[in-house]
Amino acid sequence: MLYHFRIILVESIPLGVTYDEDNVTFGVPLEQAWNDLISVATEHIEVASFYWTLTGEDVNVNTTSDLPGEGILERLKALPSRNVSVQVVTSMPSLSPNSTDLSVLREHGVQVRRVDFGRLTKGVLHSKFWIVDKRHVFIGSPNMDWRALTEVKELGALIYNCTSLAEDLHKIFLSFWEMGHFNSSLPQPWPSEYDTSINRDHPLVVKDGNVSSRIYLSGSPPSFCPSSRTQDLEAIFSAISEAERFIDVSVMEYSPSARFHRQRRYWPVIDDVIKRAAFERQVHIRMLISCGRDSDPRMLPFLRSLASLNSPTYNINILVRLFIVPVGNKTDIPYARVNHNKYMVTDKVSYIGTSNWSEDYFSNTAGVGLVVSEHGQDPMQKTRTLHHKLQAIFNRDWHSQFSVDLDKLGQNPDCALSNP
Ligand SMILES: *[C@@H]1O[C@H](CO)[C@@H](O)[C@H](O)[C@H]1NC(C)=O
Ligand SMILES: *[C@@H]1O[C@H](CO)[C@@H](O)[C@H](O)[C@H]1NC(C)=O
Ligand SMILES: *[C@@H]1O[C@H](CO)[C@@H](O)[C@H](O)[C@H]1NC(C)=O
Ligand SMILES: *[C@@H]1O[C@H](CO)[C@@H](O)[C@H](O)[C@H]1NC(C)=O
Ligand SMILES: *[C@@H]1O[C@H](CO)[C@@H](O)[C@H](O)[C@H]1NC(C)=O
Ligand SMILES: *[C@@H]1O[C@H](CO)[C@@H](O)[C@H](O)[C@H]1NC(C)=O
Ligand SMILES: *[C@@H]1O[C@H](CO)[C@@H](O)[C@H](O)[C@H]1NC(C)=O
Ligand SMILES: *[C@@H]1O[C@H](CO)[C@@H](O)[C@H](O)[C@H]1NC(C)=O
Ligand SMILES: *[C@@H]1O[C@H](CO)[C@@H](O)[C@H](O)[C@H]1NC(C)=O
Repeated sequence: MLYHFRIILVESIPLGVTYDEDNVTFGVPLEQAWNDLISVATEHIEVASFYWTLTGEDVNVNTTSDLPGEGILERLKALPSRNVSVQVVTSMPSLSPNSTDLSVLREHGVQVRRVDFGRLTKGVLHSKFWIVDKRHVFIGSPNMDWRALTEVKELGALIYNCTSLAEDLHKIFLSFWEMGHFNSSLPQPWPSEYDTSINRDHPLVVKDGNVSSRIYLSGSPPSFCPSSRTQDLEAIFSAISEAERFIDVSVMEYSPSARFHRQRRYWPVIDDVIKRAAFERQVHIRMLISCGRDSDPRMLPFLRSLASLNSPTYNINILVRLFIVPVGNKTDIPYARVNHNKYMVTDKVSYIGTSNWSEDYFSNTAGVGLVVSEHGQDPMQKTRTLHHKLQAIFNRDWHSQFSVDLDKLGQNPDCALSNP
């Protein structure tokens, strides 16, 4: 049987976020994506998530906007009785100490392992992905959190019918699963079964209609990557370095400042390649960074520094804006009402990741990235590509009433950077 490979953008737009222009979304809603994956599963589901909180109760919030989350939990719970085995890896430390999701899932036959990233790498397991029947894959910004469905802006990709990529992602899953044993220790190097033949230099080539795509997965942290795996930072570097015309970045957090053993540390690694692209190759850069109530105001000087380079007269084009999700009357929901997206689109590739752009995400925190470059034969096909849709999403958000120029920030209670 010939399986029909498909790649689909997935979005979650928080309730109350309605665009002035039109309410277009260019992807399927996250709730639908997860429900579809649960429906098509016949044998096996593997899920990696930083933490789980699929009910409002977990965080002491009484709201009906957790209903989609509760629905997902119910449907996952029922899988083992349908003879679909479910394996879950999650992080220690975790953001949701009070959640009962994992014990409820365990009672229904789901296998759960917590990976002690605190001990292994001094980081967290921040990857978020699903693998279904070793055939379908979901990768993106959302955790297994009810807020991801209704109160947080998320972006991901769903890939149907791609066993090669699913097997490759399974190797990453397995590395977490094995490290989820009590008292595990990191192998050095990783045994050969974790090696991959799919990476930046040898991407997987797949066809959907007349569009041919080159795809690979990147991984983080380095201590979890065999040498054949392209590291997440390398993937971001390559995408920026290869761009010729434009680079559009939408990430939650962007910061060259870090802290190491309570000391300030300057980490201009990504900042440098961006400036180099803007200056040497005159690539047009747009950075859309999230700002919410919990954002770190220490990002601000670095964002200003980047924006201050913008000088169209000298052919340096770097624009920086903040995306602010209005909180409205939802002030009681913690860690919500924020743009959690982590992606980049250049004239060459689409990159969909799970990491903030700051040092710890590439040195000791687990993350995963999906890099796709598409080549269509006729222009009609181009409008259907992931690349085209990702650009449309970026443009919609960039030009929306939720995006604010750094200079015009003023006072905004929904954005911690506006009152430093
Ligand atoms: C996967 O491939 C099968 C066989 O061609 C097809 O029936 C199915 O619709 C495909 N799944 C999706 C979601 O496209
Ligand atoms: C967008 O959707 C909201 C809620 O469904 C609606 O109130 C609003 O009028 C829509 N805006 C446009 C421009 O269509
Ligand atoms: C967890 O529950 C305890 C006791 O009810 C409470 O004090 C704590 O704030 C809760 N933590 C979170 C993250 O909700
Ligand atoms: C939650 O809110 C609903 C409606 O506002 C109310 O009827 C219900 O009693 C509340 N539940 C709890 C546990 O507070
Ligand atoms: C699950 O598998 C068992 C053992 O193979 C079988 O008896 C049962 O009918 C299956 N249940 C479903 C819902 O397929
Ligand atoms: C855990 O591993 C360490 C080092 O590998 C070893 O010294 C220790 O005895 C182990 N602890 C247990 C309880 O197995
Ligand atoms: C591929 O392109 C050819 C020629 O442009 C066209 O006839 C055909 O319908 C296209 N196939 C698909 C699946 O779009
Ligand atoms: C919150 O605001 C929304 C939209 O403005 C409104 O429909 C809803 O009734 C409000 N809820 C509360 C509890 O005030
Ligand atoms: C990075 O992103 C996570 C959520 O994905 C957020 O909770 C965290 O505060 C962000 N910033 C840093 C510096 O970790």
